Amino acid sequence: MRILVLGSGAREHAIVWKLRQSPLASKIFCAPGNAGIGQTCELVNIVPTDVKAVVGFALKERIDLVVVGPEGPLAAGVADALEEERIPVFGPHRGAALLESSKAFAKEFMHRHGVPTARYAVFTSPEQLEARAFLRHVNYPAVIKADGLAAGKGVIIVETEAEALDTMDDIFSRRIFGEAGARIVIEEFMDGEEASVFAMTDGVDYDVLAPAQDHKRLLDGDRGKNTGGMGAYAPARIVSDKIMEQVRKEIIEPVLKGLREENRTYRGVLYCGLMIKNNRARVVEFNVRFGDPEAEVVIPLLEGDFADLLLRCATGKLKEVMPLKNFDACAVTIVMTSQGYPDSYETGKIIEGLDTFDQKKEIEEGLAVFHAATKLDEHGHIVTSGGRVLAVTAVGYGDELKTTITAAYNAVAQIGFDGAYYRSDIGNKAIPKAVPA
Ligand code: AMP
Ligand code: GLY
Repeated sequence: MRILVLGSGAREHAIVWKLRQSPLASKIFCAPGNAGIGQTCELVNIVPTDVKAVVGFALKERIDLVVVGPEGPLAAGVADALEEERIPVFGPHRGAALLESSKAFAKEFMHRHGVPTARYAVFTSPEQLEARAFLRHVNYPAVIKADGLAAGKGVIIVETEAEALDTMDDIFSRRIFGEAGARIVIEEFMDGEEASVFAMTDGVDYDVLAPAQDHKRLLDGDRGKNTGGMGAYAPARIVSDKIMEQVRKEIIEPVLKGLREENRTYRGVLYCGLMIKNNRARVVEFNVRFGDPEAEVVIPLLEGDFADLLLRCATGKLKEVMPLKNFDACAVTIVMTSQGYPDSYETGKIIEGLDTFDQKKEIEEGLAVFHAATKLDEHGHIVTSGGRVLAVTAVGYGDELKTTITAAYNAVAQIGFDGAYYRSDIGNKAIPKAVPA
């Protein structure tokens, strides 16, 4: 199989890393990739949202499977365009990718198909008077969300009506989210604990991966700013068998059925962002791709041939390899960021210590250093090129989360760059009576 992976983060590095372990994968390309991904496959200088360029490359290189990492290309219709050329693609069509690219669509879809989520209302910018009246009667805190893709920043939790009105002005008048804020969703605040469940699907059949928990806040103890994710671990015990059963019956199955009824083609992975309280899960959000950093823990845990699995999802043949199996193991990933992330930060810092890791040895030892934002400078050094720089994963066999966390931090300690920052408590909340880090 000749495979093209779209994207450039640690999630895509984990995808390529797993594909490389498949005897079916004869050639792997990644567009545009990063310095770490470039050590393991051929990089292609194409912007993933440039649908025409992606299709052209896939035809020219006789690609057998395209795996789409991020949501942008899916919202731009890359899966639709590839399928028109009969190129199998892991990732939903644009009409199904709306589950992520429009929060208003996602809420209305959940409402149509009876999927449990927070109560909500949708307003467009000409409906500001109605929105103001609505905000007078909601309970606080409440949540205001920009409808469109806003790079994970489009969600604001407001404590008072005054703050809510201010936020609405920011979005509608000051247009802080641009076109993504042409519509807003106002919704009930849900408390509880968050977790992520991933359903691999060919549109008809599906199975779930190990449930995971992300750590979205910048600082230890889940304090500080929201980020793209500072670390993750799996399996997340908070998603008990009972809750997983509820998620299957009340969330995943109605969503897949609803998508089929509405003729929205979905072959790929459905990310269910959940809020769990009193042993019940409700949907916070859907994404139409793997989570990042969750991918860096759920993919290494998965047993079996990954290229075969993704191709089966893309071609409607998932059933024959179900149920999916995980290693009897747990995984932890620690994200190393540039100082100042998620606000402004410097890039171009030389990363030391990477050469102590070698891919073959890594797999034997249960370690993997996934690159999130790195590039080669003119002297051939690997340097930082973004906010989240690396995701360092450890896999521990058996159920030893605590020793796996230690192994991940030991690996992190061997890597350094100017201003490197990471949280020191990833996974701790899952250890019964953990000693605070
Ligand atoms: P989203 O982009 O929809 O995932 O929202 C980003 C983050 O905001 C989520 O991971 C939650 O932590 C938080 N959030 C979103 N919606 C709600 C809600 N209705 N209640 C509480 N927290 C929320
Ligand atoms: N881990 C959050 C996300 O991928 O959206």
